[in-house]
Amino acid sequence: MRNIQIALTKGRLEKHVIPLFERIGIDCSELKDKGRKLVFQSKNSQISFILVKAVDVVTYVQHGIADIGIAGKDILLEYENDVYEMIDLGVGRCKFCVASVSSYSPNGYNKKRIATKYPNITSAYFRKKGEDVEIIKIEGSVEIAPLLGLADAIVDIVETGQTLKENGLLVFEEICDISARLIVNKASLKMKKDEIFNIINKMESVLIEKE
Ligand code: PRP
Repeated sequence: MRNIQIALTKGRLEKHVIPLFERIGIDCSELKDKGRKLVFQSKNSQISFILVKAVDVVTYVQHGIADIGIAGKDILLEYENDVYEMIDLGVGRCKFCVASVSSYSPNGYNKKRIATKYPNITSAYFRKKGEDVEIIKIEGSVEIAPLLGLADAIVDIVETGQTLKENGLLVFEEICDISARLIVNKASLKMKKDEIFNIINKMESVLIEKE
């Protein structure tokens, strides 16, 4: 058995993904009690995990440092990549939405300013609608942009809707659904085919059981 390195997205997705790996028999005890550590070895298997930011999961997988990665579909849509997207894990479900204050008019004729952390997804969405918008790239706390007049609306991820609610914003348009995906490095899929398909097949049966 060759070692398999798995890159996990730090934060929001961790709590959804760790139970899936446990259910396919991979020990995640170090990961669950991690402190500030970022690299972990599973006890009963030749599997190690690294915990990195969402967009870096794709970078580590694409460069073959990690064989497998778990990343949100949002990241795969926003950042050009050259990895195989193998399974929809069905966890970390959320939506891309256009949101704003109640006075926002989605059908207004003025050129809109849209604040977002996802300029590519945003421009593709409005281009498809035939609408010319100005995109303002923001790194976080996007919800305050329409409140402070930086933008007319935002394009962002909505999971529970709590952040929008607490900032007095409403959803005006739903763009698409998002969930966590298992991605694989292209060369690893050839070189470590058995090990990788062993994980993928087990993961798929756990997902079918869950349905
Ligand atoms: C995301 C997103 C929203 C929030 C939505 O931010 O940008 O702010 O989650 O979640 P909710 O609908 O459950 O309230 P995230 O916390 O991932 O990070 P950020 O602060 O870097 O944007």
